[in-house]
Amino acid sequence: MTYHTIMAAAAVIASRTERERHHAAVVLGSGLSDYARSLPDAVEIPYADLPGLPVPKVPGHGGSLFSVALDGGSVLVFAGRVHAYEGWEMDDVVAGVRTAVACGASRLMLTNAAGGVNAAYSPGDLVIISDHLNLTGLNPLKGANDDRLGPRFPDMSAVYNPRLRGALAGVLADKGLPVHEGVYAWFPGPSYETPAEVEMARRMGADLVGMSTVPEAIAARHMGADVVAVSLVTNLAAGISPTPLSHDEVNEIATRARSTFSDVVDAFLPQLVQH
Ligand code: HPA
Repeated sequence: MTYHTIMAAAAVIASRTERERHHAAVVLGSGLSDYARSLPDAVEIPYADLPGLPVPKVPGHGGSLFSVALDGGSVLVFAGRVHAYEGWEMDDVVAGVRTAVACGASRLMLTNAAGGVNAAYSPGDLVIISDHLNLTGLNPLKGANDDRLGPRFPDMSAVYNPRLRGALAGVLADKGLPVHEGVYAWFPGPSYETPAEVEMARRMGADLVGMSTVPEAIAARHMGADVVAVSLVTNLAAGISPTPLSHDEVNEIATRARSTFSDVVDAFLPQLVQH
């Protein structure tokens, strides 16, 4: 996605929403996209109307961007994300995040479904991501650097903003939910990890395994945005779980956690906007 395309997408968003700038953005993970439908008075823009945004190939779920005004500012919510394992280029995977930052969003909340590696986690728990391990060999910044977007060698010593993490932990605690933080290991997928891979990740310091989020976090930091990310633990990772993994199980837990997830995001968004 060239600088020109990013700016063109941002211009479409500004004109369709009649909002000159957005202050924050949220990316909804697998099974969590329904949250966007609960937003009051949101303006919906199908990805297909936005230059450079990849249109997910799931029939009937082409992906949409929602814009919503809150007290302190406006938020972009991405319902529908694409993954490297579907064959998309890294540039496509991070197109939404880059567009959001170009719209002015200087705070970004990334959400996903993940496997729990840390034995203290249970399916249904929300875990705030404290750091990541990139185990894919992929990087969205590979190739010529566009200095208008960010530096060639961006610092990654605090990808996940400590103040935003603290604010999100406060929301979880207020709601009486367990407050966990953990390291997310990005695997390429689409096959789930083997037990040996999960054990490797655990010894490397991983608490969670998943197939998304990290490229978006890298691209957002490259552009200077502050990032906070949260995983919904949908299953115990391979070898930790006594039973085989299934996508149906992942979706079922995501569906069951929907109202908790919505409550948490609803409570957090005003803080994300005003941060
Ligand atoms: N591994 C990778 N990705 C996932 C998992 C998992 O166990 N659960 C949900 N997404």
